[in-house]
Amino acid sequence: MNKLHNITLGLTYDDVLLVPHYSDTASRKQIDLTTHFSRRLKINIPIVSANMDTVTESVMATAVALAGGIGVIHRFMTIEEEAQEVRKVKRAQNFMITDPVCVSPDTSLSDAIKLMKQHGIHGLLVCNGDKRLQGILTSRDIKFKTSLTGPVREFMTPRARLITTTADVTPERAVKIFDEYKVEKLPVIDFEDKIVGLITASDFRKHAENTNASHDKNGRLLVAAAVGVKDGMERSEALIKAGADALVIDIAHGHSEKCLQLTKELKLVWPEIDVVAGNVATLTGALDLIKAGADAIKVGVGPGAACSTRIVAGSGVPQLTAVCNIEGACRQYGVPLIADGGIKTSGDLAKAIGAGADTVMIGNLFSGTLESPGEYYIEDGQAVKVYRGLASREASIDRQAVEQNVARQDRAPEGISYKVSYKGGVAKVINLLVDGLQSGMSYTGARSIKEFWEKAEFVRITEAGMRESQPRSHQT
Ligand code: XMP
Repeated sequence: MNKLHNITLGLTYDDVLLVPHYSDTASRKQIDLTTHFSRRLKINIPIVSANMDTVTESVMATAVALAGGIGVIHRFMTIEEEAQEVRKVKRAQNFMITDPVCVSPDTSLSDAIKLMKQHGIHGLLVCNGDKRLQGILTSRDIKFKTSLTGPVREFMTPRARLITTTADVTPERAVKIFDEYKVEKLPVIDFEDKIVGLITASDFRKHAENTNASHDKNGRLLVAAAVGVKDGMERSEALIKAGADALVIDIAHGHSEKCLQLTKELKLVWPEIDVVAGNVATLTGALDLIKAGADAIKVGVGPGAACSTRIVAGSGVPQLTAVCNIEGACRQYGVPLIADGGIKTSGDLAKAIGAGADTVMIGNLFSGTLESPGEYYIEDGQAVKVYRGLASREASIDRQAVEQNVARQDRAPEGISYKVSYKGGVAKVINLLVDGLQSGMSYTGARSIKEFWEKAEFVRITEAGMRESQPRSHQT
């Protein structure tokens, strides 16, 4: 058969525009962006940060969840390190931390400081072996000390001077205590003076400042974490114990036996944890993953900014067509669709959601921000950070240390590495994306994502149409 006969057309974001429709929304701010990341996880904006080592660790995942989305911690670190990143997000915002980090009064101050750094916290409860509260050590206790040697008991604020509460305290009462006693941390104890939790004033402030944040049922921020097929089960166990709300299988070719098997195994052992599977770019691929038990499908083979799969392997499907081909099945089975890669603008985000995605996964646009891993540095007078594909040569060389692999010099890398300008905080980037999406939805006359799926209509444009779409400072 002639393989070019009846060949299908693949379109992507730049090939189309959303057709404006009648709208009766008074303000784009009223548009509801709540959506599902996976079967059980509801989030407030359709934005997910990518499981890439230059994009998402705990700091990014916390910022994205505070804005209403969710971050996926990358897996290119040891199992314990990834679990620790998950724990940091789960601890970042709580009404009550139920497992506060505690030290003994005999712990050396230097070990206690290390522990605070490791957990990304500013205070430790001090207790003896049977969990009875002995005191609290905060950064304030050591701020003005000239010598930092000795055991914690010499620096802590002792039990007798602590204001505490019990587990039945309401949020309103806790705020009153913070106000009245001018304290920042409120240990929660039982009738035997044993520690059952910790309430912090900073969590209350974050709650007030981030009313749109994505929370689990205990008021902690949502976070997902990536696992690979090699150590998927072992890694998943540690991540679930650490509090991960969902697991994301990270494999370039998701329509593969390895991915299907891992999906099935994970669902068999932990049916209550959502498993996101992918990446796929075809309907059959998505249906096979749904049959295997996937709770969300990650769609995208090669659209990412740092991807070279389509050039190196000649494989992929233009992203808008991939999303449109798969969304019907996702809707039918109630499995959310994550459009992964290729989002360059808020207009692309609007097109992806209008096409039927529940969320988009973003790498490049979030790279170079304050919250992306690594420090910025100055090059030619410009502040820059690095963004790289997971299959880039640079990423695989760094991974050898973690995976103890031999360098795969014989493999053609399917990703690239490059510098991006430093952008400052990610919240600003997210706000602009959200505002653009709400504008796109209001041009379509949609007040919710569900309505957007129903009403969105695309017009295919030519290169001239694309040129006309670009802002121009002068006409040629
Ligand atoms: P953006 O466009 O937001 O895309 O930067 C992020 C997505 O790109 C994918 N990714 C890769 N794809 N080779 C690839 O073919 C790579 O090295 C690579 N690294 C990341 C991934 O799906 C991510 O979420």
